Amino acid sequence: MQHDGHPLPNATLEPVTAAIETRPQLRIGPYQVDPAVVLAPMAGITNLAFRKLCREFGSSTSIYVCEMITARAVVERNEKTLHMMSFDEDEHPRSMQLYGVDPATLGEAVRIIVGEGWADHIDLNLGCPVPKVTRLGGGAALPYKRALFSKIVAAMVSGAEPAGVPVTVKFRIGIDDDHLTYLDAGRIAEAEGAEAVALHARTAAQRYSGQADWTAIARLKEAVTTIPVLGNGDIFSAADAVRMMAETGCDGVVVGRGCLGRPWLFAELQAALRGEPLPEAPNLGRVGEVLYRHGALLAEHLGEDKAMRDLRKHMAWYLMGFPVGADLRRSFATVSSLTRLQDLIGELDPTAPFPRDAEGPRGRQGSPGKVALPHGWLDDPDDPAVPTGADLMHSGG
Ligand SMILES: Cc1cc2nc3c(=O)[nH]c(=O)nc-3n(C[C@H](O)[C@H](O)[C@H](O)COP(=O)(O)O)c2cc1C
Repeated sequence: MQHDGHPLPNATLEPVTAAIETRPQLRIGPYQVDPAVVLAPMAGITNLAFRKLCREFGSSTSIYVCEMITARAVVERNEKTLHMMSFDEDEHPRSMQLYGVDPATLGEAVRIIVGEGWADHIDLNLGCPVPKVTRLGGGAALPYKRALFSKIVAAMVSGAEPAGVPVTVKFRIGIDDDHLTYLDAGRIAEAEGAEAVALHARTAAQRYSGQADWTAIARLKEAVTTIPVLGNGDIFSAADAVRMMAETGCDGVVVGRGCLGRPWLFAELQAALRGEPLPEAPNLGRVGEVLYRHGALLAEHLGEDKAMRDLRKHMAWYLMGFPVGADLRRSFATVSSLTRLQDLIGELDPTAPFPRDAEGPRGRQGSPGKVALPHGWLDDPDDPAVPTGADLMHSGG
């Protein structure tokens, strides 16, 4: 069941897609998710502009999750946070991800969000492996504390249920190979009323390195039987998505790094999961158009200056593998206006075809490392105490 990280030739996609088509459609609470694709929440990436760009390629009935929002900032009605929570007029469901460690704060944040009508779906982030977060008991450290985890899900569900807003939970396999938590987490989330769970099939110790272990997704699917199980980790092509669904039996896929600098992946995912021919990969001329569209959408959302600073981190992903000289790449990476961006795009060779090797892994990979935890954290998984100081974080998952 191991996968080698390389896309399958399209010819081998068809029989597998046929098997997937016979599966019941993915439903998360009141929403029919078709195709069963979710844009993974990515801090600093999945803002309104990027989600809109992905939706322009993908299906309007897939789910595109907002950047992570800290529950405490919602409760404090932090202005910057409220701006991060903006959605496009026609975005539906408006999918928000919360981070937090305290059932009271998370419950309160959910009540505010549904009371104000700010979102239609709320996901909980329990996958963040960043040491400054896990050291305080937040993110991927938290599901180890089963009783606390259970109270958190219950508090969120009871806040969201009256408004009919589904709550879902996203977590990793565990802290490290000796402390796997995903099966308990899945069963607890299911029992407490979550409407779906998503598994990033790595431990926190792996961070983004090595390969996601898709066999864990299959095991979670066996353990969680009444709500959908979504698989996440290392989907870098449409064929990867089809294969994950076929190999694990998961009900849908969550795609993160694969769409960085490549929002048209959502068109490819949609075609593959519907058993249709894949659209042709874009040449550099088309990539330039998409890059400009991304810049223009960001400028509408953030203002031109901030937009260009935000866009710079996407440049290497858009240009990955294309024949673009070092000087021109540098100019893209320091772009400061839409006019300048247009000029630089004009210097690209529009006929350069999409490089085959750009279909492989992209985005952060990093290296594995020991997970920093609060003192005595592993002593008692049934201790429901709320870790102190872990409420604030801004770095994502
Ligand atoms: C830049 C970046 C930011 C991320 N931020 C979040 C986040 O805020 N919340 C979260 O649950 N996961 C976050 N993740 C993890 C992704 O949602 C996803 O689980 C992970 O990248 C594995 O999926 P992939 O192999 O498709 O990228 C982030 C990942 C990246 C690369």
